[in-house]
Amino acid sequence: PGGGNLNTGIMFVGEGPGFEEDKQSRPFVGRSGQFLTNAMQKVGIDRSQVYITNVVKCRPPDNRDPLPGELTACNEYLDGQVALINPRIIVTLGRFSMRKWFPEGSITRLHGQVKNIGHGRIAVAMFHPAAALRNPQWAVEFEKDFQILPRLIERAKRANEAAARGETLVIADAATD
Ligand code: URA
Repeated sequence: PGGGNLNTGIMFVGEGPGFEEDKQSRPFVGRSGQFLTNAMQKVGIDRSQVYITNVVKCRPPDNRDPLPGELTACNEYLDGQVALINPRIIVTLGRFSMRKWFPEGSITRLHGQVKNIGHGRIAVAMFHPAAALRNPQWAVEFEKDFQILPRLIERAKRANEAAARGETLVIADAATD
């Protein structure tokens, strides 16, 4: 279903398990995972601090795109994970994950954008690491987009502190709604 820190404020949501992930029952442990882990490290995020999952929980045969019925079937599990982990920040990796919280627009236009999604949560759209591995221009954009995360994490911490005082602080001031 996913893996990582259950007490985290930040959740990454990819597409679906690939060959390695299927074998090991852990998300993002293949080449894309290595690229993702490196991008996190470059902005000071240790992978052990975050939770990582996918929109579909079973490997689509031959790595094909998830089908609409598969996305629908897995949606309640993803909703359950979000409700249980209750992250402040959801980072969507790739267009299938982006579509859940950004129903309109292409990833080439939306990547790097932040959106308030209710419950004191934001979603941030990012390219899929596999797409970044295929396209050097997207790799540059992918790493650039990651640079907004430390600021959002800092804001999320302040939002938690405000909540403890009974106040509300919006995490993303430049958010699109
Ligand atoms: N690609 C994904 O979308 N998810 C994984 O877990 C691995 C590769």
